[in-house]
Amino acid sequence: MARMYDSEEGYDLYSPYYKGDHFFLDSFDWEIVIDFFKQSIEGHSHIDLMVLGCGDGREIKRFIKAISKTGKSYTFHGMDISEKMIQLMKKSIKKEGIPLQNIVKANVLDRFDEQYRERFNLITGLFLIVHLSATQIDPFFDNIRYLLNEKGFFIFNNIPQKDLPLLRAGKHEMRILSHHHEDSVIEKKLYEHGFSIKIKRESFEQGIKISTVYCIQKEIL
Ligand SMILES: C[S@@+](CC[C@H](N)C(=O)[O-])C[C@H]1O[C@@H](n2cnc3c(N)ncnc32)[C@H](O)[C@@H]1O
Repeated sequence: MARMYDSEEGYDLYSPYYKGDHFFLDSFDWEIVIDFFKQSIEGHSHIDLMVLGCGDGREIKRFIKAISKTGKSYTFHGMDISEKMIQLMKKSIKKEGIPLQNIVKANVLDRFDEQYRERFNLITGLFLIVHLSATQIDPFFDNIRYLLNEKGFFIFNNIPQKDLPLLRAGKHEMRILSHHHEDSVIEKKLYEHGFSIKIKRESFEQGIKISTVYCIQKEIL
């Protein structure tokens, strides 16, 4: 039977194979994500970007390219619980000629330093909340409120995942712990944490929902 891992150990082990999933991950909702991203940078002259659960850099390189095309200045931060994924990300960013900025190993459930309070005007978290349990959603949105500034946007997706996918790391078969969250539950939590949904788009494959992408903003409480 395939062994189950938590995110830290699981993604450390699976990191060399993750690139093979990029095309599949893109197929869920990438067009929507990049569209929301471009809309979100429009109103800002300078972008302070934080990519949560940044993985091996699948999205961050393309986010930076999208910002660079506008000529706007930017800083970016990335964080992930897997050291191995971070190492891959740093490598791939360097390869693209993007100057390395602040990439740290951290848990999205932990509170960041005071210097990060309300610092970011754009935060993303793709294929991330699927790895948080029902009880971790509250501290997660609490942290988003802490990190996001008044006019900022947080873009994330919710993937219905009732069965945990079987992953192959070489000859080793494994699963990484993940959780199913109904959109209605996420939306209730957003409301409770004082967020409003600016844009939301669902994707379907053969009539079955495969993703919901949200772009949210803080309500002023
Ligand atoms: C499915 S991957 C998505 C990576 C990237 N966002 C993407 O879309 O390709 C999930 C990532 O979230 C990270 N992750 C899971 N739980 C986390 C947590 N509590 N704190 C920080 N990162 C976490 C994993 O290590 C992994 O790199």
